[in-house]
Amino acid sequence: MANNEFANPSNSTALNISRRDLIKGVIAAGAVSSASYLFRVPAGWARQSTPGAVERLITLTVNGQQRRVDVMKQETLAMTLRYKLGLTGTKLGCDQAECGACTVLIDDVPYYSCSVFTHTVRGKKIVTIEGLASPEGKLHPVQQGVVDEQGFQCAFCMPGFVMAAVGFLKTNPNPTRTELAHGVSGNLCRCQDYDKILTALMRGAEYMRKA
Ligand code: FES
Ligand code: FES
Repeated sequence: MANNEFANPSNSTALNISRRDLIKGVIAAGAVSSASYLFRVPAGWARQSTPGAVERLITLTVNGQQRRVDVMKQETLAMTLRYKLGLTGTKLGCDQAECGACTVLIDDVPYYSCSVFTHTVRGKKIVTIEGLASPEGKLHPVQQGVVDEQGFQCAFCMPGFVMAAVGFLKTNPNPTRTELAHGVSGNLCRCQDYDKILTALMRGAEYMRKA
């Protein structure tokens, strides 16, 4: 997992905002903005309905599309993706940079999106699990490897593992099993299905080389 150059926790300290307040604020704003997204109400209505929220309208490049979205200064990318852009394939587990469930690619490098401030990734290329398949619906080779090997039990951790593996394989397309295990070692599986997960990801690596 790359060092997180996009997160700056000192901002929160400077603003004297506790983590609990931060999360509550993001959830509140996200719920209102999601309602706006789902029910197509004017964005201005959503802003007025969130007393005290400081929001900014920015453009993100997500899965090859330009997405306009209101974000608060302290809002994390995971919150924006899930609750404002409706991209719920990105999972939230620990929400504190430990489990990897929220992994996405930022300029082809895997990051924990729960620990990246959204406003810091303007101009970057963000890819989530929803953006891996081709526009025609053909699965990414790593996704196909997961399907063929049935590598996960509950699969809650699957999107994060797949994104981490895709990012790692861009730097090492022909890894040994040990190297790939190291490459995705920033991701945890509550079902402890690591052996099958690695088999599936190795199959995906093989498919990527053949693609
Ligand atoms: S939810 Fe981001 S690392 Fe666990
Ligand atoms: S398969 Fe259940 S958390 Fe990984």
